[in-house]
Parts: sequence; structure tokens; C-alpha cells
Amino acid sequence: MTRTPTPLSDELFDYLCVNGSPPDAVQSRLIAETATLGHEARLQISPDEGAFLTLLTKLTGARTALEIGTFTGYSALAIARGLGEDGRLTCLDISEEWTRIARRHWRAAGVQDRIELRLGPALDTLTSLPDEPAYDLVFIDADYENYTAYWEQVVPRVRPGGVILVDNVLYHGRVIDPDDTAGTTQAVRQLNERVRTDDRVEATMIHIADGLTLARKK
Ligand SMILES: C[S@@+](CC[C@H](N)C(=O)[O-])C[C@H]1O[C@@H](n2cnc3c(N)ncnc32)[C@H](O)[C@@H]1O
Repeated sequence: MTRTPTPLSDELFDYLCVNGSPPDAVQSRLIAETATLGHEARLQISPDEGAFLTLLTKLTGARTALEIGTFTGYSALAIARGLGEDGRLTCLDISEEWTRIARRHWRAAGVQDRIELRLGPALDTLTSLPDEPAYDLVFIDADYENYTAYWEQVVPRVRPGGVILVDNVLYHGRVIDPDDTAGTTQAVRQLNERVRTDDRVEATMIHIADGLTLARKK
């Protein structure tokens, strides 16, 4: 049994991206424009994670999806492409400024008609959504403090057999540091514990980017 994942140097990471659905022209332009934001660019998901989201969306045959945390739109673009032309993706974010960039690139990719963007605190938007299980796939990638609250709002709204993904669940390794008592670290730990004990789902954590929880609603 291999216990230790292969360490990912910068060169190996580039190799992994290049050989696993590298970003196309639209995605490359979105990465480049997001990079001009400076420090905030770190919020964007990585190209390998984007490729994974597109493939998973296709593999599950998802038609309706929800995203919490859109930023400049890379993950939404990845999911929208996986949904196909008749799919619908609802995106929740609070930033007009960042999502303006997203809208431009969605238009360039020809997926803008599949995406509805709702601006405002995601918890408020979520509680205003109908209660019934309407979504085939949900991606949670917003403020850590609300991760568990998002989870509780999302699970009842996912169809049986549907998928819930949560990003950054390893939180750069901070989740296992006993001296790290920051509120954000505790929030990620709390979410991970909730998923582990939630018998409405079966779930696993994938070592992609900063850790991705992949859950299937029973
Ligand atoms: C990590 S980024 C999302 C990255 C995005 N998934 C991508 O692929 O580039 C987190 C996003 O959550 C948004 N956000 C933070 N707090 C929020 C809240 N309370 N309600 C809605 N969105 C929020 C931020 O504006 C930011 O765009």
C-alpha cells in the first residue's frame, strides 16, 4: 500500500496540468486577468481542479448545479461546461467587482446563458431558495466561517444521488495543527467533522489542490 502521496513539486504540478486537460484560450485569459488582482488571485481554483470539476459534472450527468463562492468565475466556467447546453448553474457571491470579470469570461466561453448569478450574502440567498431537492451538483468555496451553515442549507436541496463538493478542506494543513485555534481553522475542522458524521451522505476527501471533499447524497 502506498501511504504517502507523491510530493508535488512546481514542475510536477505543471506536468499534471499540461497532461490533464490544460486550460484552453478562454481559461488562460481568465487566469491571466485574475493574476493582475495580485494577492487575491490565490482565491482562484487550480487548473487541475477545474478540469476535475468539468469531468465530474459530465460523469454524473448533472443538469442543475449550485455554486457558493464564484470570485472571477473559473470554477463556474468549469461546471457550466460540464453541464452542457441545457444545464443551469446558480452562482452565489457578494462581490460585484470580481463577478463582473467572471461574466465577461463566461460570455467569451459562450456559457453565460446557463449561469444565473445572485449577489448577496450566500446564507441569505440560500435560505430564500426553495427547500426541495433541486440540485444535482453543488460546489462550496466561499467564507470558511459559514461552511457548516452552507452544508446544512445545501444537503436538503440536493437530489438523492447528487454530489456536494467542498473546497479547501485541508486548509493548507492547518486542520491538524493543535496550536492553530484561529476561527477559520476551527470552522473547517467543524465542517469536516460534520461531513464525517452526517449519515445523509457518503463522502471522501480527495488530495487535489488544498483538499476537496466529494460527497454523494444517499
Ligand atoms: C475562494 S473564492 C471562490 C473562488 C472560485 N470558486 C474560483 O473558482 O475562482 C471565495 C468567494 O467567496 C465570496 N464570498 C465570501 N463571503 C461570502 C458570503 N458571505 N456570501 C457570498 N459569497 C461570499 C468571495 O467574494 C469570493 O469571491
